[in-house]
Amino acid sequence: MKGAVLAVLLLSTLCVHAQENSSTLIANVDGRTIISLDGTWNTIVDPYETGLNLRVYEDAKPKSSSDLIEYDFERSPKLHVPGDWNTQRESLLFYEGPVWYQRDFSYQKRPHTRAFLYFGAANYQARVWFNGQKLGEHVGGFTPFDFEVNDLVDGENSVVVEVNNTRRLDGVPSLNTDWWNYGGLTRSVKLVEVPETFTDNYFVQLAKGRTDQIEAWVHVTGPAHEGEATIEIPEIHLKQSARLDDSGRASFQFPAHVQLWSPENPKLYKVVISAGGDSVTDEIGFRTIETRGTQILLNGKPIFLRGVSMHEEAPFRSGRAFSEEDDRTLLTWAKELGCNFVRMAHYPYNEEMVRLADKMGLLLWEEIPVYWDIQWQNPATLENAKSQLREVISRDHNRAAIAIWSMSNETPISPERTQFIGALAAYARQLDPTRLIGSAMSHIDRTSAESRVLSDPLGQFLDVLGLNEYIGWYEGKPEDADHMQWQFAYLKPVIVSEFGGGAQYNRHGDTQTRFTEEYQANLYEHQFTMLGHIPQLAGMSPWVLMDFRSPRRLLPGIQDYYNRKGLISDQGQRKQAFYVLQKFYAEKVKEGSAVAIK
Ligand code: GCU
Repeated sequence: MKGAVLAVLLLSTLCVHAQENSSTLIANVDGRTIISLDGTWNTIVDPYETGLNLRVYEDAKPKSSSDLIEYDFERSPKLHVPGDWNTQRESLLFYEGPVWYQRDFSYQKRPHTRAFLYFGAANYQARVWFNGQKLGEHVGGFTPFDFEVNDLVDGENSVVVEVNNTRRLDGVPSLNTDWWNYGGLTRSVKLVEVPETFTDNYFVQLAKGRTDQIEAWVHVTGPAHEGEATIEIPEIHLKQSARLDDSGRASFQFPAHVQLWSPENPKLYKVVISAGGDSVTDEIGFRTIETRGTQILLNGKPIFLRGVSMHEEAPFRSGRAFSEEDDRTLLTWAKELGCNFVRMAHYPYNEEMVRLADKMGLLLWEEIPVYWDIQWQNPATLENAKSQLREVISRDHNRAAIAIWSMSNETPISPERTQFIGALAAYARQLDPTRLIGSAMSHIDRTSAESRVLSDPLGQFLDVLGLNEYIGWYEGKPEDADHMQWQFAYLKPVIVSEFGGGAQYNRHGDTQTRFTEEYQANLYEHQFTMLGHIPQLAGMSPWVLMDFRSPRRLLPGIQDYYNRKGLISDQGQRKQAFYVLQKFYAEKVKEGSAVAIK
């Protein structure tokens, strides 16, 4: 084990250096001057990736009738951005491969400004050209990326993006997932205009374990990155300045008396960050999140996480969720259940959803798609996972709602895997020392018919232990849970990050009949009995809020390519188990307030 820990430390240090050399990723783009490039884009579906040889990225037009140009974006079918292609065109539902996107737009760059092309996400691999020039590539389907286009802007501009969602053995995730591999420009595309010297990122949060002290940094990039940066919180008449160092970074530590953010009181403050003539405004909540023994503490007080797991899938129309309406519907359903916590499985969701949780008062578990088995010994796969982690943390590290960064889900135990994820955990702590690190684990020792032990060595690297168990569905009968005893190798807070069973809305029968609402509801009841026997239990997020598309779900007339473990159908119909969980959480709240009064 000592060898493994040392190897983990070495790996994480190596990668930090790589990070410092990467190009800037602008935080809080909606706090900047932006031109939306959303809307209808021309598209070419290119299963054999012929477009590379044809150099479609040049977006060329025949100059004479004898010119041979074998593509024409303008006369090609259209797709809406943001949006996956699978649910926009019947013929693309199962399509995995390259699709070329192109659109024109007018933009004249103003003096003393810089322009960046910003993508909220593109699944899975994206190659980007601007006016025929290659800007770069990005791998990872759920995190933002941007490219500077300064010298290429020319009044009338053409952007070409090749998006390829082919699954890859060395990918993150790899070949096998229990969710639909939605491809495309799944989130907004923007042109961001900033001053020559601007604040590309900042971190303004309470110091670890302190409710009266803010610890912050501001990073400025550009020719004039010297002088001072200032943080202002007008509502509490606070204004603090600090010198920028040679790398354009200013560090802050100052007392602050703020109302603490919590699900009951999701208080956000207007915060203004200015430096080098640039200023950006954000809405930030202040709270502390820690563990003490087997408890999770929010603002220094124990909290029980009443949660639900979900996918970033749009209710009613299916497809990758991206709109404010999609996000609000899903989070409102979680609130209606009585949740104060949501596990965003298994990949980072759109930024708007995270900001909405900040406003609505929902704590979040945010995860990178290190899911099931991936190439643990492949350094490129590790770097891929690290860059996804870096991108999501740099995007969401000012969100009070985010409590837990999750490194992985249900990964098979091996020294290589534990080392890999250990390195991710160490890296996450370097990027953000203020939040909890977790993972969802499912490899359980069955020590007898009625006892289970979670002894996964991954636990040593985590603050909270996520446990995925399916007693009553993949294992045994629902009532087997009643007498099940659990033990954990680490004395840390446990979140039962998944349990559940399938039910088709409006399919009824006795509690022993699979896929009936009665079976699912009964399973929940027995789970509550079992969870009540786990002294280390600090939270739960049953699987899953809403039925979602999955290529692994083949049962005709019931699944039809949907995972039916939702408490709500994909058409918004609540199943019996929804009300069973709602009642359980209402009792938990009553219990909690009784404890609080004591
Ligand atoms: C797993 C996994 C989920 C999956 C679920 C299921 O635990 O983490 O992604 O959808 O089980 O089988 O329904």
